[in-house]
Amino acid sequence: MTRQFFVGGNFKMNPTSREAKKALIKVLNEATLDPNTEVVIAPPSLYLIPVLEQVRKEVKVAAQNCYFKPNGAFTGELSPAQLKDAGVPYVVLGHSERRSLFHEDSALVAQKTRAAIDTGLSVILCVGETLQERESGKTQAVVEEQLKAFIDISKPEDWSKIVIAYEPVWAIGTGKVATPAQAQETHALTRAFLATAVSKEVAESVRIIYGGSVTASNSKELSNQPDIDGFLVGGASLKPEFVDIINAKKA
Ligand code: 13P
Repeated sequence: MTRQFFVGGNFKMNPTSREAKKALIKVLNEATLDPNTEVVIAPPSLYLIPVLEQVRKEVKVAAQNCYFKPNGAFTGELSPAQLKDAGVPYVVLGHSERRSLFHEDSALVAQKTRAAIDTGLSVILCVGETLQERESGKTQAVVEEQLKAFIDISKPEDWSKIVIAYEPVWAIGTGKVATPAQAQETHALTRAFLATAVSKEVAESVRIIYGGSVTASNSKELSNQPDIDGFLVGGASLKPEFVDIINAKKA
């Protein structure tokens, strides 16, 4: 089973001007990108429509979050239906910043994932442990709990619309990247968990990407691990080196 390499750029709450956003898109539009890699960028919601209009067609666009209701009195939220209507194919859900700063628990993330898939979106579903959880040997239990909330309400056909992003919280924005061996271990254990909790077919086919201080210089070795199917990149997705990360598998 070959899983298509996937590189996502999570811009988070960046950049802070339309000019800077245009400059980021220009770099991507002018670069030579590995045609075998699926590339998805997640700009702030304000920029979703202009980015869809400006970015080359090979690069897909994701929202960084959405709610689970289709419409209504939910001030400040975006719905899966609105994203679908705008032509946005992907949404990032369960990012650790949403979980920790905005108090989203796994049940809510699962509900949002259900709604997004039911609306026809694909989901980049983020999981990962804190440093304290890793140091107390709970990494796998945490990742499995985060996934199980969705597994419990999933259907077999959902999994072709899901990319799992393993993002250890201690590696996000810290410059402390997981070693290739640490990331590979969690990815392999997560795949083994999916084989028993969902199915062997899903475990084999679902892409599990790594996020947390990925740079051009560490991406190559990470990409060589058998269970690392790509990256979700934060800080480095705002720099020209994002192109090298996209091309890591080919390089
Ligand atoms: P950094 O690449 O900045 O560590 O962020 C990773 C991340 O959170 C991507 O979603």
